[in-house]
Amino acid sequence: MSDFPKTLRLMSRGCDFLGTEYAILCGAMSWVSERNLVSAISNAGGFGVIACGAMTPELLDTEIAATRAMTDKPFGVNLITMHPQLMELIEVCGKHGVGHVVLAGGIPPKGSVEAIKGHGAKVIVFAPTLALAKKLLRSGGDALVIEGMEAGGHIGPVATSVLAQEFLPALKDEHLVFVAGGIGRGEAIAGYLEMGAVGVQLGTRFACATESIAHPDFKKAFFRAGARDAVASVQLDPRLPVIPVRALKNKGTEEFTAKQREVGLLLDQGSVDMAEAQLRIEHFWAGALRRAVIDGDVENGSLMAGQSVGMVKEEEPVAQIIAQLLAESEEALSRR
Ligand SMILES: Cc1cc2nc3c(=O)[nH]c(=O)nc-3n(C[C@H](O)[C@H](O)[C@H](O)COP(=O)(O)O)c2cc1C
Repeated sequence: MSDFPKTLRLMSRGCDFLGTEYAILCGAMSWVSERNLVSAISNAGGFGVIACGAMTPELLDTEIAATRAMTDKPFGVNLITMHPQLMELIEVCGKHGVGHVVLAGGIPPKGSVEAIKGHGAKVIVFAPTLALAKKLLRSGGDALVIEGMEAGGHIGPVATSVLAQEFLPALKDEHLVFVAGGIGRGEAIAGYLEMGAVGVQLGTRFACATESIAHPDFKKAFFRAGARDAVASVQLDPRLPVIPVRALKNKGTEEFTAKQREVGLLLDQGSVDMAEAQLRIEHFWAGALRRAVIDGDVENGSLMAGQSVGMVKEEEPVAQIIAQLLAESEEALSRR
């Protein structure tokens, strides 16, 4: 008999799909979700996901092999749809028999879903609207993650609580939906499971786990921060698009605002053309997450974090975090 019977009953379809003990995914986090954290999550009964990010096929090949050496449990790989070598990356996943590929960052390009399924793997997709979710699930997506704007990293405009109310009633009977964004405690997990989710995905809560290779200064910044410190980047000039990213406020975020003003002015003066101006904005954050996560540059790097960062207070082993989330969920369900 499990310690969490009510939670696991609600998670059973998610667990069957993932092949795990618990339907708790650790969302891919570039630079953070590598062999150590991913294998720790999977070894603890959750589902780890390697963040491929901008990796080359060779690097991904190495990372999958290294992760496999550290766990015999299932884990997935997150691929960004606009990666120029997406099809090669899919081949690498196929070569290693990766069971689940998560496609993030936009509508999957033609042929990508089919290629993943051709290797016998399951495809997990993201969708910002219900109409797109239905389309992706009809055209090969095996499961969906809905992610609200409370999350760390690149975000959409709608809160998790609203997405859950919009998507779950419409999809829960026929499809597998995981909820992400702003989850810090098990009571929230219980709520989304009761609404029809088959599992959840967390990032921020796991980023500073003992097994995470994030720099000690990156972790310290998380432990000190409260929900209101995790802010979404703002676009100042309608001509210069900024994809919103939620991260802890620091010198870099202030400089980004100044940079937008400066480039907008250059554009007004005709000193740069539109393409050059947009490139300067886009390039501002290049390498910034790596600077924060790996080098510990918490002033100028990007400290991507969700609003649940206020609930991250100390370094804890992954197994302890998962056990706590499950216990909180179970207690909430038992009180009903
Ligand atoms: C530091 C950090 C880096 C992230 N990098 C990625 C990424 O590379 N690809 C991706 O699909 N999501 C990325 N995310 C989003 C997570 O996978 C996850 O969906 C999100 O963190 C869940 O919301 P939460 O932060 O409120 O728990 C990142 C999140 C964080 C905090």
